[in-house]
Amino acid sequence: MSVVDDVKSRIDIVDLVGQYVPLQRAGRNFKAPCPFHSEKTPSFIVSPERQTWHCFGACGEGGDCFNFVMKREGVEFPEALRILAQRAGVELTERRAPEEDARRNRLVEANEAAAAYYHNALRSSQAGAAARAYLTDRGLDAETIEAFELGYSPDSWDSVKSFLVGRGFSDAELLEAGLLVESDRGGYDRFRDRLMFPIRDEKGRVVGFGARKLSTGESTDGPDAKYINTPQTPMFDKGGLLYALDKAKEAIRRDRSAIVVEGYMDVIAAHQHGRTNVVASMGTALTDRQIKLLERMRAKVLLAMDADAAGIEATLRALQEAGAAGAIHAGAQSVHPALMGDEEFSEKVQEWSRNGLKRATVNFYVVPLSGKDPDEMIRADDGAWEAAIEHAEPFTEHVFGVVASRKDLSLPDQRAELLQELLPIVRLISEPTHQAHYVQRLAARARVGEKVVWQELQRQQRPRRAAEREQPATRVRRDPKEDFLLALLLRHDDLRAQGRSFSPELFLLSEHRAIFEAWQQTADMNSLREMLSEDIQPSLDRILAIELPPFVGSGLIEALESCVDKIVKDRLQQAKEASAAALSELGSEDMAAAVDTAYALQEAAGSSSASESDERTLALASALVEDDEMGRRLHRTSPATRPASPQREEDP
Ligand code: UTP
Ligand code: MN
Repeated sequence: MSVVDDVKSRIDIVDLVGQYVPLQRAGRNFKAPCPFHSEKTPSFIVSPERQTWHCFGACGEGGDCFNFVMKREGVEFPEALRILAQRAGVELTERRAPEEDARRNRLVEANEAAAAYYHNALRSSQAGAAARAYLTDRGLDAETIEAFELGYSPDSWDSVKSFLVGRGFSDAELLEAGLLVESDRGGYDRFRDRLMFPIRDEKGRVVGFGARKLSTGESTDGPDAKYINTPQTPMFDKGGLLYALDKAKEAIRRDRSAIVVEGYMDVIAAHQHGRTNVVASMGTALTDRQIKLLERMRAKVLLAMDADAAGIEATLRALQEAGAAGAIHAGAQSVHPALMGDEEFSEKVQEWSRNGLKRATVNFYVVPLSGKDPDEMIRADDGAWEAAIEHAEPFTEHVFGVVASRKDLSLPDQRAELLQELLPIVRLISEPTHQAHYVQRLAARARVGEKVVWQELQRQQRPRRAAEREQPATRVRRDPKEDFLLALLLRHDDLRAQGRSFSPELFLLSEHRAIFEAWQQTADMNSLREMLSEDIQPSLDRILAIELPPFVGSGLIEALESCVDKIVKDRLQQAKEASAAALSELGSEDMAAAVDTAYALQEAAGSSSASESDERTLALASALVEDDEMGRRLHRTSPATRPASPQREEDP
């Protein structure tokens, strides 16, 4: 996912805009007086579904979260991106200077040379014999050892050091690469008498090592730990890497599924047995960044690890807390606000959804391992492992099961607890079909009607929005019409004459707008690219990759026109819906007065009967007229039959 998409997926436009103007619900949308021009009847509409905003009044502008911040704060795109990234908690990667790249390359080269050295020591040295025997004993064949470039670090203080110094690396570089431990004499070999697992990044570059003790003492940390790893270096950050992702990514993309295990040995055993979509989190609970690596591949994620590492225990704890807090929040006014203020509550929900509940979304599954390591399982009975994968259960379902198994569901009190504890998870599911499915499941388990569950869900709407913000991947709104229009223009320069006259406002998505504006200025793809900020380039690539049908004769122009037409109509439709929803909330008396005034307005703007009406009725009447007008435009009534639109936007 590009940074722009990542930020977009975490910003809720309703929350964002709501900080500047008071939003009121109007049907599926929200409305407010436009923050960009002065008006009395709200014609500023925010669509949560599309994550866009639009002013249907005097300024007629619209866009997404980026345009909003650009306009509101008077900044350019890169600054808007910075502001929103900070809000969303997305780290913007600083563009690295070329010297920095060169330095990193040296670190990788040092690690790769070390990997080759260790590998060679495993294969052919006298000292490597025990390590070879160990691997054979654990069932690894020569091909696997080769593929993973497993190695052996000799029992020496300076063997890898003198090898690498001989290859032209400085002590400082080797220290920075994590291969040496600092000492008075420039450092000594960090890894000694251990089995070496080179850890590669997604691109296959060796960035660090895991090193296993050959003897079986089971201390878990310190220099004698079962595994020691490369410490944090500019290239090595365990929480941002998945072991064997370089080897697994092809299969992950192909099968659209990734299996995550804990250990190096688990990955290696699985790959040797032909399951090549397996990666390891390297012992810790999956981090946000690791999850993102997988989400980017649009794969479902099968967790084949213990409950702690899979985040199940953390999720259960968070559910319990949020369930209790939710019950308090919804049920009692008597709780002191300082104890359970809105803010504190939504923070809690956010924190917990960040950690555990991210997995509650539809793409995570739990593989039942019944207490065994995948490695043990595979070696004991490959079929049992395959069957476990077959039986992977959706994360949500699994958590439902665990929570239910810890309660005595013959007791109504405990069923009520179950309901409160599991509601937050259901609330987080944004995909409506899946949400409905779990509402059903929850209703059945708690033995209440589905309607009760839906009502409970609605009762606690507010935390939902806070939580939704934390749910990326499914939330990036694309507009296929905008995609198509832009692809047409970029690919068919014959459309330049016509396209140049379009307003950039035609595009609501800011990256599309930026690309279009650049296109208006140049026909040359290279200069166009140069005009765009780097963060927008992935969007350009995405648009350029869109497949277009072949067009013959006037087909191309027609496609362009019909696409523009659809976009315009679509906007109008939105406005019409919003306005209808707003009007439908009026009481019948207000409505009757407004209708009368509206007729008067339509017949002669500013007639005596209209100006007699009070200000509110006048405003409502204007809204009615505008609504009517939009209806006509939508149905392509000829402009001649449009009623005169009253001047109402310029307030004195
Ligand atoms: P395991 O203890 O399950 O190790 O830790 P394993 O990979 O299955 O190895 P064997 O089967 O005992 O030989 C799982 C992972 O946790 C990390 C390593 O990445 C390991 O693969 N770990 C474990 C550490 O980083 N340090 C440790 O001390 C232990
Ligand atoms: Mn193991």
